[in-house]
Amino acid sequence: MKKVYIETFGCQMNVSDSERVASTLAEKGYKLTDNEKTADIIVINTCSVREKAEQKLYTQIGRIRKGRSEKPVIGVMGCVAQLEGETLFNKINGVDFVLGTRAVGRIHTAIEKVMAEGSGHTDLGEREPDYDWSVSDAQRHSPYVAFVPIIEGCNKFCTYCIVPFARGREVSLSGSEIIRQVLELRRQGVKEIHLIGQNVNSYKPKTDSGLEDFKGSTYFSRLLRAVAATGIERIKFTTSFPRDFHPDIVDAMDENENLCNWVHLPVQSGSNKVLKDMRRLHTIERYFERIDKIKASGRDIALTTDIIVGFPGETDKDFRDTVKMAEYCEFDSAYIFKYSPRPGTPAYEMDDDVPAEVKTERFRELERVQKSIQTRHLQRYLNKTLKVLAEKVSAKSDEDISGHSTCHKVVNFRGSNVILGNIVDVRITEIKANSLYGEVCS
Ligand code: SAH
Ligand code: SF4
Ligand code: F3S
Repeated sequence: MKKVYIETFGCQMNVSDSERVASTLAEKGYKLTDNEKTADIIVINTCSVREKAEQKLYTQIGRIRKGRSEKPVIGVMGCVAQLEGETLFNKINGVDFVLGTRAVGRIHTAIEKVMAEGSGHTDLGEREPDYDWSVSDAQRHSPYVAFVPIIEGCNKFCTYCIVPFARGREVSLSGSEIIRQVLELRRQGVKEIHLIGQNVNSYKPKTDSGLEDFKGSTYFSRLLRAVAATGIERIKFTTSFPRDFHPDIVDAMDENENLCNWVHLPVQSGSNKVLKDMRRLHTIERYFERIDKIKASGRDIALTTDIIVGFPGETDKDFRDTVKMAEYCEFDSAYIFKYSPRPGTPAYEMDDDVPAEVKTERFRELERVQKSIQTRHLQRYLNKTLKVLAEKVSAKSDEDISGHSTCHKVVNFRGSNVILGNIVDVRITEIKANSLYGEVCS
């Protein structure tokens, strides 16, 4: 039995793709392993969103080749594979096959080809019409949490972003297929599902199959109500695109407790001029309307975001607007990135005129402001009881269990592994920088 090791970088879509690749390979008789050193085949699932992310592929392959006398078969999949295609064979020594983002269903064919004919196989083809989107129980990243893709690709073409080129146009899965998967996951004992996609709320299936009985202002809010009706314990969804964030999504959350109280809504900038140059399709006023609606919910909905600093043309005043925006929104957390020019995107042609040290200064200042807002804002959880899914023994202490709350905070608490897979009431006793600590209520 050939042993395969899969290394995954990038977003949840990549994690989900790796899970399906692992499912396919297991079914075809390969053995999945966590030990890279003894693997016969190594598959690297890559990300291209920022230069640093892409760099990981190059260092990783160098490291693998150095550490072994006999070279394993090395395959590259994911966004770098799709974007670079055959050029990867020239760029990096040791690559045997390249598999595009929609060719992942043919992973076994790629491996067989390399075994039979030697290295040099590339497949950037389209998905099989009957592509199976499900993941086998054994190959999920967690026995209790599952990712369910509902839409792939992106039609938005924000000027800085490589994703539309790497992932192609938006394609939505049918409501009935999504519902079928959720019911099956529930049967397998999964407690929490994440509906995933680059822009989940741009969800637009070809028909309303499976959604006929559910009301809503958009296909996405109808889907949310339909998934809520499956009775699965917890439903989260990410990422939401601000322009398409219809207020009805918040109404659906208010109506259904199993739609968890967390929204990730990447704003990118607080300046209308920069938002326009980014082609984000929302103004800051529109964004604030979304935020106000979310904050007006009867539930305490946690808000998180992504922000880019140092986009071409960003002035100090634009940056101040971003700081003000962060103060207004009071995010529970924010992923802050320095703008990274990506070849092939429209912004790559713009003058990257914010000096590196200014990008770093802005990054640090925003991080500092956000930290202080966050520290203050997270105090509201102190002494509150949160429902936490006990997911695993904590990496830091054998005596602690780690999981996520409905508002998607990492929560650690004293407990033993017998409670894994249960949702427990945890009273929060300590607010830490990136997690909460608490004790189980009896
Ligand atoms: N589909 C999501 C997220 C896409 S990528 C959305 O529309 O928001 C995740 C995050 O990476 C983005 O939100 C953005 O903040 C960041 N990002 C994307 N391209 C980038 C670039 N060229 N430089 C810096 N950050 C970038
Ligand atoms: Fe990239 Fe914009 Fe699409 Fe998000 S919406 S994936 S940031 S192009
Ligand atoms: Fe990266 Fe591709 Fe996801 S570029 S963020 S792995 S869609």
